[in-house]
Amino acid sequence: MKKVLYPGSFDPFTIGHFDLVERASKLFDEVIIGVAINPGKNPMFTLTERENLIRECCKEIPNVKVVSFEGLLIDAITAFKADAVLRGLRAFSDFEYELQMALMNRSMLASCETIFMMPNANTSFISSHMVKEIANLNGSFEQYVPQIVAEAMRKKLNGAN
Ligand code: PNS
Repeated sequence: MKKVLYPGSFDPFTIGHFDLVERASKLFDEVIIGVAINPGKNPMFTLTERENLIRECCKEIPNVKVVSFEGLLIDAITAFKADAVLRGLRAFSDFEYELQMALMNRSMLASCETIFMMPNANTSFISSHMVKEIANLNGSFEQYVPQIVAEAMRKKLNGAN
């Protein structure tokens, strides 16, 4: 039983994230999506909202589990008994940060393997940060996120919650 932990802020969960989850679900017995509690960030969605939205987006993929974690990623790896960490590599510009994070994690936990997967080329330019910025500036953002995420964002923007 091979489990991979896919950590991230997922604020919001985009079609690029979903693409990666779908791909990983075919390679691993279980994909654990770990939503990070990051006290330093001021997210658009609360942790529970992000978890619930991701669960809804991935409900058709049976071997996906959504959890949250606080603190170090290496502690989450141990807690969830994951065999590896999954991260998406969209462009060369992601590489430096991702390499540093993977090696830092491995220096703290020698058994920590990080696996990188490339999302579909037609989603590889999408970032949660830019999607939020576009949404906040009244641009069209719906095509970059799953439909239920778009609806939830629309409600946030309209001040519904
Ligand atoms: O989606 P993001 O914001 O790029 O995800 C970054 C995340 C949550 C994977 C990263 O910040 C992380 O692992 N945070 C947990 C704290 C930690 O372990 N920090 C040391 C990393 S070397």
